[in-house]
Amino acid sequence: MKKLSARRRHPLAAVVVLLLALAATGGLYAAFAPAGKAQADETAQSLAIEEGKKLYAVGCASCHGTGGQGTTDGPSLVGVGSAAVDFQVGTGRMPAQQPGAQVPKKKVIYSQAEIDQLAAYVASLGAGPITPTDKQVDPAGADVANGGELFRTNCAQCHNFTGKGGALTEGKYAPDLEGVSPKHIYEAMQTGPQSMPSFPDTTMPEQEKKDIIAYIETVNGDKTESPGGLALGGLGPVSEGLFAWIFGLGALVAVAVWVAAHTAKAKKS
Ligand code: HEC
Ligand code: HEC
Repeated sequence: MKKLSARRRHPLAAVVVLLLALAATGGLYAAFAPAGKAQADETAQSLAIEEGKKLYAVGCASCHGTGGQGTTDGPSLVGVGSAAVDFQVGTGRMPAQQPGAQVPKKKVIYSQAEIDQLAAYVASLGAGPITPTDKQVDPAGADVANGGELFRTNCAQCHNFTGKGGALTEGKYAPDLEGVSPKHIYEAMQTGPQSMPSFPDTTMPEQEKKDIIAYIETVNGDKTESPGGLALGGLGPVSEGLFAWIFGLGALVAVAVWVAAHTAKAKKS
């Protein structure tokens, strides 16, 4: 005992203890670091799910059920995936308000961080389409012409040839696609909201979705560029017909009035 305390008082004792402690910490770190990182990711993920669950309980459970199983006021969310949540909440469709033919877009009330948490929670209920990454939805370098072709065969019957949208049956409508972000366009194709069919990667691979996004961005981009003259709102035959009626007939009437006025004048003199 005497010996130990004597040694402890040795001037180098503190340094030795410090070195031993450092070595131990370093060793422990080396042993546990890789596992630690994976664990940190897992913890972050379960934290997001936990936070999402709380947001869900307040904002969504009344219609979609406490465990996402659905109620008479809203469908089951088991297996809809994070992409569906990101689309529905990110475009302001959810949380829904009044019942109606179609849930409309509204002001988005959650931050993107909260939307991610809600999405993490819903994704934890059952596997479904995953929110795409920025790289997946980036239309840079995509084939616009092919996108136009794909759009005309798959989307134009509802959204019109330039994505202006249009009415469907029973008070439903396909919205105008102008200003919709590439991510939300991608997610709409992945998940098929409401009366829109879904275009999963198995039938429409990532590259084709990118081509379509590039096409939509192109037709909605530069308003001053329209190959056939004035765009007339891009609504097709209806507005073009209206244009012909108003301007064409207007011009005819003007000519008739002019001719009549001149004949009258000619008679008088
Ligand atoms: C007032 C009731 C109501 C509330 C509140 C509500 N929803 Fe919905 N939700 C609906 C209805 C109804 C639909 C189905 C719309 C349709 O497809 O016609 C729906 C559809 C969805 C879908 C699409 C499901 C699919 O099959 O693709 C998602 C995702 C969703 N809701 C998430 C949420 C989230 C997340 C919240 C909370 C932030 C929420 N909802 C709040 C009523 C509600
Ligand atoms: C059968 C008709 C139909 C077809 C075909 C269709 N859609 Fe839709 N689309 C809709 C309807 C209806 C909605 C609105 C759904 C909602 O509000 O939940 C919609 C919504 C969208 C939205 C969301 C727009 C917004 O304002 O948030 C995008 C993007 C979209 N569609 C893109 C496409 C693309 C791209 C295709 C072709 C690959 C396509 N749609 C094919 C009917 C259709």
